[in-house]
Amino acid sequence: MLETNSPVDIRATIVQMRSISLGVSIITLECSEIAASAKPGNFVNIKINDATQPLLRRPFSIHHVRGSLIDLMVKSIGCGTTLFCNAPVGSSVMVLGPLGNSFDRSSTPFQTAILVSGGVGTAPMLFLEKTLVGEGKKVINLIGGRTKNDLLAQNLANCRFATDDGSVGFRGTIVQLLQSELPDLKKNGTLKIFACGPNPMLKALARFCHEHRLACDLSLESLMGCGIGICYGCCVEVSNPEGGSRTILLCQEGPVINAELLQI
Ligand SMILES: Cc1cc2nc3c(=O)[nH]c(=O)nc-3n(C[C@H](O)[C@H](O)[C@H](O)COP(=O)(O)OP(=O)(O)OC[C@H]3O[C@@H](n4cnc5c(N)ncnc54)[C@H](O)[C@@H]3O)c2cc1C
Ligand code: FES
Repeated sequence: MLETNSPVDIRATIVQMRSISLGVSIITLECSEIAASAKPGNFVNIKINDATQPLLRRPFSIHHVRGSLIDLMVKSIGCGTTLFCNAPVGSSVMVLGPLGNSFDRSSTPFQTAILVSGGVGTAPMLFLEKTLVGEGKKVINLIGGRTKNDLLAQNLANCRFATDDGSVGFRGTIVQLLQSELPDLKKNGTLKIFACGPNPMLKALARFCHEHRLACDLSLESLMGCGIGICYGCCVEVSNPEGGSRTILLCQEGPVINAELLQI
């Protein structure tokens, strides 16, 4: 996976807040230093207020970069994310980033990128899609959720959907959708899969890609504290190519890993 530039820790103003779905907002921050060096797959670690609660920063993928602005797609699930989604425009937060590695767009040749995402795992896909299209790749999005309200496809192109309840698109999981579409997708040349979403989805996808010999990058999640390799809060067990397993710090060697490393 690709390494990232040195992170900076800066105070950034919230310049826009848009609700896009129940409990999900696009939060736009003015932070030119991070915008200038961010790569698709990177994340930022945010201190949402100056109080002691929540004490720790919260990590979010970079959803999109627009000039000096970065967009984050934030789902309100607890104390920190709820505070963040309710923060007034004009207020500021401390932003540490860009952090982590990025999606690997160069080490294996491919013509078409299949971006597979579920729920708020769609967050890093807009930045990735725009970058890949700028590099001349064809991009197809496969987006999954339990129901149509979970699909967060705003501004993404070439989308195909899977929902557990069949309320939109294919009825079934995103991996079943990929399986049914694979013969058609293969007409677009060599494929590479890029994915982000819930861990059970990523495990099923890793298994599928292994069986079908598809190159695949996965962006994983874990609990994180510092985001910079100090607290050891983000330990994840991965397979060792030489056999056995080893522990990585996801904030350092991730969040993107080759799917062959995921323990399935
Ligand atoms: C690299 C990375 C990128 C991420 N990108 C995004 C993003 O783009 N958009 C987004 O909305 N969220 C993203 N997340 C998840 C986000 O960081 C958590 O939802 C957030 O930290 C929760 O904070 P909270 O204070 O609201 O929840 P808390 O009050 O701390 O926790 C509420 C509940 O959520 C669980 N929880 C907390 N963190 C996570 C997590 N990482 N995964 C699963 N469950 C969790 C807790 O165990 C608890 O049950 C990302 C996480 C990582 C590690
Ligand atoms: S989050 Fe602290 S070491 Fe990774």
